[in-house]
Amino acid sequence: MTRRAIVEIGHPVLRQRAREVPREELRSTRVQQLIDDMIETMRAANGAGLAANQVGETLRVAVVEVSEGNPRYPYKPPIPLTVIVNPTIEPLEGETAQINEGCLSVPNLRGEVPRHLRISLRYFDRHGVEHEELRSGLTAGTFQHEVDHLDGTLFVDRVADPRTLSTWAEFERFRRDDFLARAAAIVERFGS
Ligand code: NI
Repeated sequence: MTRRAIVEIGHPVLRQRAREVPREELRSTRVQQLIDDMIETMRAANGAGLAANQVGETLRVAVVEVSEGNPRYPYKPPIPLTVIVNPTIEPLEGETAQINEGCLSVPNLRGEVPRHLRISLRYFDRHGVEHEELRSGLTAGTFQHEVDHLDGTLFVDRVADPRTLSTWAEFERFRRDDFLARAAAIVERFGS
């Protein structure tokens, strides 16, 4: 496994729509290696997820994993390692909440993004097995963030009120307590 360089906002690859991965290509050494590299890269950066665009590959592949006490997002409930290929999201019920997000490709910036609280997530895993799952709460937001990447969308595009933007240090000083209370209410309600 190789750690890949994460590209940052301004790089055109982050604005491209990644293409679907056919099953035969998913089985290839190249794509399997890419998935392994993305997992290593996400873990090394303490990310909650990583999309292929972020390492310069325009394939519809993303990885998500949150371990207990993630240093970047300590309030996020754990998510076991999930590799999503050709994912699609269908919002359920239309209820949204403002979730404070950051991104490895948008250094030192956070902001409030409206996210659906219940979604149906369909994807192929790395072995080509199809899954359809209900995801909710903060976890639903994490998957929406990653699928956005595959469509060339960054969280800053979805920030409804630019006045909510902050650096990570100022988030800690001025916004953390308010957001943690809202995040805890979501986790209590959905368990995720
Ligand atoms: Ni991101």
